[in-house]
Amino acid sequence: MAFRFDPYSPSFDADPFPAYKMLRDEYPCFWSDEAGKWVLSRYHDILNALTDWRTYSSAKGNLVDEFPGRAGATLGSTDPPRHDRLRGLIQSAMTKRALDHAIEPARDSIRRHLAALEGRDSFDFVSEVGSKLTVDLLFYLFALPFDNADEVRDNAVLMVQTDPVTRQKAPEHLAAFHWMAGYAENLVQERKKNPGDDLLSNFITAEIDGEKLLDKEVQLTVTTLIMAGIESLSGFLGMFALNLADHHDARRALAADLSLIPDAMEESLRYNTSAQRFKRTLTRDVELHGQVMKEGDAVILAYGSANRDERMFENPDFYDITRRPKRHLGFGGGVHSCLGSMLARVATQILFEEMLTAIPDFKRVDEELPWVSSSNFRSPRKLVLARS
Ligand code: HEM
Repeated sequence: MAFRFDPYSPSFDADPFPAYKMLRDEYPCFWSDEAGKWVLSRYHDILNALTDWRTYSSAKGNLVDEFPGRAGATLGSTDPPRHDRLRGLIQSAMTKRALDHAIEPARDSIRRHLAALEGRDSFDFVSEVGSKLTVDLLFYLFALPFDNADEVRDNAVLMVQTDPVTRQKAPEHLAAFHWMAGYAENLVQERKKNPGDDLLSNFITAEIDGEKLLDKEVQLTVTTLIMAGIESLSGFLGMFALNLADHHDARRALAADLSLIPDAMEESLRYNTSAQRFKRTLTRDVELHGQVMKEGDAVILAYGSANRDERMFENPDFYDITRRPKRHLGFGGGVHSCLGSMLARVATQILFEEMLTAIPDFKRVDEELPWVSSSNFRSPRKLVLARS
C-alpha cells in the first residue's frame, strides 16, 4: 500500500513518530494528498527553509489551517521587512518589568492550584494545573480582568483546533476566533482610556523611529499572544508532565535536584514538543530530493520530526535529560523563532519546581490519552496523574 501522511488522523496524534521516520528515510520531500501540502521532515531541510524566508514565506499564514483574514496581519504570518518592524515593536514592549509583574504572582497561583489538590489521590494535570497556570500567567501579563477567565481559555483552546473529519476550521473554531478578536478589540479600547504598567499598555504606546502599532495590529497581537501562549505553553506543560510521568528515573532525579529542570525542559522540547508543525508558502519553484515543489505550493515544516532526526541527534528516540540539545527546533528557528520562549522557560521552571516539591512522585493513570485535535499542535486534552 502506498505511504500516506495524514496529519489529521487520530492514530497519527497518538504516535506520529513512526510516520515521521518513514518520511525522513524514504520520502524526505513528500506531497500529502490529505493535507494538500508538501511535508519536509529532515532537520537540515527544515533549518534551511527557516533560514531562507524569502523562498519559504510566512505571508500566507504559518498555521497549517489558517484563519480567514489572519494571514499578513500578525507576527507569525508576515515576512521581513514588515515582520521585523512588528517584532521590534512587540519586543520593545516586552520589558523585563512587564514579565516580572506576571511571574511572581504566577508562582503564588501555582501554589494555590497545587494546594487545592491536597488529599486527592489523582488529578487532571491539564485542566487543574497546566492550563490554570497558563491562563493566570497571561492574565497577569496583560492585566486582564479574571471574571471571564474560563471563557477566554475555552475560546483560545477551541480556535486553534481543526475538525478531524472535514479537515477545515468548523464554525465553532471560527466563532472562537471571532470571539477572541472582539474581546481583544474591547480590551484595547478600554486600556487606551486606562493605561497601566502591563504588556497591553506597553503595546499601545510602543514606538520605534516614530512608528507605533495600529489598533488593529495591537488587537491581532493580543489575540495571537493569548492563542500562542495558552495553546503552546499549556500544551507543552502537558507534554513535559507526561514525559516525567512515563520516565520514572528522570522524574526522581529532578525531584531530588530541581536545578536539573531547565535541561529536562530542553530535552522535552526536543523529544516531543507541543508545536509539532507549521506552514510556509513557496515564492519560487524549489527542487529537493528529486521532487519539484511549485511556486505557490504550501509546505509543512514538521519540527517534531526534525527533533527526532538521527542525522542530527544521536539515539533520538531516547528521552535523556542530560543531553542538552541546544539546537532543537522546539521553538522553531530563523526570523520567526518563538517570541515567548523566555517566558515559556521561566513559567515551566517555576511550575515544575513547585509541583515536584509538592508531589515528587506521580504516575499516569490512562494508557491511552485523548489528544487535542489540531494540525499544528500535539498535546493531551486530559492527563490524569496519580500520586505514587
Ligand atoms: C513551550 C511553549 C511554547 C512553544 C513550544 C512555542 C513554539 C513556537 C514555535 C515553534 C514558533 C514558530 C512558529 C513558526 O515557525 O511559524 C513560535 C512562534 C511564536 N511564539 Fe511561541 N511557543 C511557546 C510559547 C509561547 C508563549 C508563552 C508566547 C507568548 C506569550 C509565544 C509567542 C509566540 C509568537 C508571537 C511567535 C511568532 C514569532 C514570529 O513570527 O516572529 N509562544 N512559538
